Amino acid sequence: MSRYISHDGEPQGNAVRKAMRQYIGRGQSTYTPTQLVVSKARGRYLYTVDGRRLLDFTSGVLVHNLGYGHQKFEKYYKQYKKGLPRNAYNMVSPLQVEASRLLIKSMRTNPRAQQILWAASGSEGIQKAMWTALKRYPERPIMVATRFGFHGKKGLAGDVTGDTSPNPNVRFISFPLDDSQPLSFYQAELDSLAKTYPGKIALLITEPYLGARGSYHPPHWYHRLLQDWCNTHDIPFIFDEVQSCFGRTGNMYAYESYCVQPDLVVLGKGLANGEPAAAVVGREDLISVLEYGEGSDTYSGSTNACAAVCAALDVFKEEKIVNKARKSGKRLAAGLLALADMFPFITAVRGEGMVYGVEMRNDATANQCVLEAYRATNNNGVHFLGPLAGNVLRVGPPLTITDNELDAAFALLEKAWQRV
Ligand SMILES: Cc1ncc(COP(=O)(O)O)c(C=O)c1O
Repeated sequence: MSRYISHDGEPQGNAVRKAMRQYIGRGQSTYTPTQLVVSKARGRYLYTVDGRRLLDFTSGVLVHNLGYGHQKFEKYYKQYKKGLPRNAYNMVSPLQVEASRLLIKSMRTNPRAQQILWAASGSEGIQKAMWTALKRYPERPIMVATRFGFHGKKGLAGDVTGDTSPNPNVRFISFPLDDSQPLSFYQAELDSLAKTYPGKIALLITEPYLGARGSYHPPHWYHRLLQDWCNTHDIPFIFDEVQSCFGRTGNMYAYESYCVQPDLVVLGKGLANGEPAAAVVGREDLISVLEYGEGSDTYSGSTNACAAVCAALDVFKEEKIVNKARKSGKRLAAGLLALADMFPFITAVRGEGMVYGVEMRNDATANQCVLEAYRATNNNGVHFLGPLAGNVLRVGPPLTITDNELDAAFALLEKAWQRV
């Protein structure tokens, strides 16, 4: 697979791609077969420097849940941050206190959501959540994680990602990828862990669904099983909602979709509609074990981040975004299933709410589908991430996408994928 991409008829985009290769280490980006060069974003559309218009089926990797340039969001965002310094590290910011209060209030369906630690990225949020549990139980070195999760690349978040770990204290347990095993299989694994490490397990961390692995959404009993086991053994249950928070699964939070009440919930991405913000929200007795400075860093809970969180919460409430997302999710699912009927190279469609994985028969087909979607017609297309886990296209449009826009996207895909 060539890493150096240029597109016919895109002189400006090609020049930017070339300069990017000169100045920016390629390790900074994830690979996509299109390397879309963006010049503008409005609503649910991205515009390239060469004038192509694409419906964004990624929300900027599940970040812009309200879409781009949302008028009310932008207005409120400006109002919240008015006059404040961009960053308020080492000061007390009333806006940060207000954002924390509103965020906790939005999580009232989980009585364990009591206090917050802010972070500047999802992996930092995961790291902070894990620090609190490890510090709370210094005599417990073992960390349990569900296999094939993605929690980030840095530090402890990287240690609990995937299926092997450089950290000798990490133990992986099975996450259902299909329905071949009954509940008793997963229960036996948990019981065996508790027996092997009595009083030694500091935490269990999982994701609501395996996004990066290729969109695997577990049966509803699964997370309840994990939570019950954690409750029985007094082990903090950490729910990584970095990508699922703020409406993605058809509820404001995925812990509501899966009927659990985690001890610590980690939020990121859609939380601030594009501003870098993440947070750990959970039990006060866990969060408060970190002393002054132990969970601090320069940019966590910045003014911009907190203004964006408050503005997003206001818009979600006023515009009933979650209800809308639930309805749009049905149309999205129906459209994807219709494509699967049409094109035999689609081997599975998995998902819930407004997040789906479309599995293709192989990696090459998936790459070609991303490319053909991009150049569906001369000037219009649909933007996807590079395929996940090789052959799965992740679909996560902004929650504000309209019925007409969804229909337009499917019409483009129907046309584009004839060429595959
Ligand atoms: C579920 C999940 N957890 C953690 C992360 C890491 O977040 P960040 O890239 O902001 O560090 C991601 C990022 O994709 C994610 O999807």
